[in-house]
Amino acid sequence: MKHFLDLSRYDKTSKVKLVEAAGNMIELARDGADLANGKILATLFYEPSTRTRLSFESAMLRLGGRWLGFADTKASSVAKGESLADTIRTVDKYSDVIAIRHPAEGAALAASMYSGVPIINAGDGSHLHPSQTLLDMLTIKTELGKLENLELVLTGDLRYGRTASSLALAMADFHPRITCVTPPELSLPEHIKRRLKDELGISVHETDGLYDPAQIADVLYVTRIQKERFFSDEEYQKVKGSYAVDGEIAASMKENSLILHPLPRVDEITPSVDETPQARYFDQMFYGVPARMAIIADLLELQTIDTEPVWPLPEELDVDCHNPRCVTKTESYLPRFFVPLGEKDEALFEELGNGETVRCFYCDYEVSI
Ligand code: NCD
Repeated sequence: MKHFLDLSRYDKTSKVKLVEAAGNMIELARDGADLANGKILATLFYEPSTRTRLSFESAMLRLGGRWLGFADTKASSVAKGESLADTIRTVDKYSDVIAIRHPAEGAALAASMYSGVPIINAGDGSHLHPSQTLLDMLTIKTELGKLENLELVLTGDLRYGRTASSLALAMADFHPRITCVTPPELSLPEHIKRRLKDELGISVHETDGLYDPAQIADVLYVTRIQKERFFSDEEYQKVKGSYAVDGEIAASMKENSLILHPLPRVDEITPSVDETPQARYFDQMFYGVPARMAIIADLLELQTIDTEPVWPLPEELDVDCHNPRCVTKTESYLPRFFVPLGEKDEALFEELGNGETVRCFYCDYEVSI
């Protein structure tokens, strides 16, 4: 069964098809359709959300289907200690497709192992947010007319944020030049930089000044500091308010460039930017509906979009993932699945020691065994 868990697992042709299908949904996202008549979407949100949950529900209603779900685990059996696997085994009896947001990394993939219906990853901890990525790509394609060879500048919390790294990984096939602008504490995790560089052939330039990268950017992608994911308040206070896109930076940007943000924002884009032609984050929110309509249409085969994700084959090992936020830490019944990484280079050797390196199938952390 096909699930929508990680956009970077689709090849370029499938990604183009999905963006095109999402583009074709724009009109239906305004006018409505009856493609999903009789179908039910379940939205299981173990973490707060405004845009993602409501736009999934809106997408299903616009397709002519219905939805049910919870937006707060306190009102569900999760509060009684029910496992993720059992919740999924329950909800798949009541629905045709499930969108899940969960704080544990790899939770959506874990859910897919127990589900009789397709699972959509609506955000799993700091790991991935593929439906946001599809809507970001639809925004870029619609507003700039292309996805190829773009100057992509990512700024904000690239360590704990899932949207920027999801976008970088999924865009790799389109040969972007990626510049990351962050304080060192918030830089892109090493395993993601390594995947971009070694597996996807994209070099990442890192800097801490926004002014110069903003001038060359086709897309300036801004993200919020993910306060809720810091291990301590002290760690958060160190970086709080450490960057902001203001009117001066927006004014220095190319005329035909975009400032995007998955939202919500706190203080990283000043209100004076909202009126500039580059500011498209409010339009970006609208694209969430057609993008999610396309995901549902693909999974429920309401249209022939014809995409196929390609996953590496995992092995079950007697090893624990070292990521404290991996879903295997809280859902202890999960099989320990890892993907061998093959030869390791010098940097990895220094960081992880001289054992064989494997990648956790759920959260993508690298572990030396
Ligand atoms: C983002 C998320 O949840 O990852 N928001 C969203 O889905 N639109 C970004 C964030 O919370 O900062």
